[in-house]
Amino acid sequence: MSVEDRTRSEEYEGVLEKLFTLSTAYKRFLGINEESLRKLRAQRDKILSRMEEVVFKVLDSLLANDEALEIIKRTGLTKERASQLFKYSYTLFLEGGYDKEHVQKLFRIGLAHARVRVPERLMILTAGAFLREALRSLGKVDVSKDVFPVLSDCIFWNLCLMKATSFLGD
Ligand code: HEM
Repeated sequence: MSVEDRTRSEEYEGVLEKLFTLSTAYKRFLGINEESLRKLRAQRDKILSRMEEVVFKVLDSLLANDEALEIIKRTGLTKERASQLFKYSYTLFLEGGYDKEHVQKLFRIGLAHARVRVPERLMILTAGAFLREALRSLGKVDVSKDVFPVLSDCIFWNLCLMKATSFLGD
């Protein structure tokens, strides 16, 4: 490994370490813990049974926005690929370990959006659409009411970590 590569990899590890520290504080802030994650995971299958409609509705919101359409055109993102990425993300919200590996995945997703210059406002709006559709879909399955706030906390935690590199300088 060259000196440059080593420096880059040490910088990456350093950022990851800071994000992990932040992620722990965010979990405490939102009340995400083993108990709440256990509740969510217990309802995982029922929640994921409505994933298609959640993802399609989120995509409908995204595709109705001119700023998003400009990015989609510029990057050549297809509807199929976007739907695949959203399904991956929704599954990650529900099945992720809320640990270092999860933080690393979100860091990479955040970097991918920075690379294609997706503005923060669109990330927040899309996460809002995810939350709206997730809650709407929960109303259609027989799940215990305690998972509603947990799912909301989890979506916010994921959003925050996807965008956290931009907060590191604050
Ligand atoms: C909550 C919001 C969002 C989630 C969870 C999400 C999820 C993802 C994921 C998982 C990836 C793959 C990252 C990687 O390569 O590792 C990705 C890439 C991408 N996203 Fe998003 N995204 C969100 C918002 C948006 C928005 C608002 C746009 C704007 C149009 C957008 C456009 C893109 C583009 C152009 C790529 C790269 C395409 C590719 O890899 O083929 N995303 N997104």
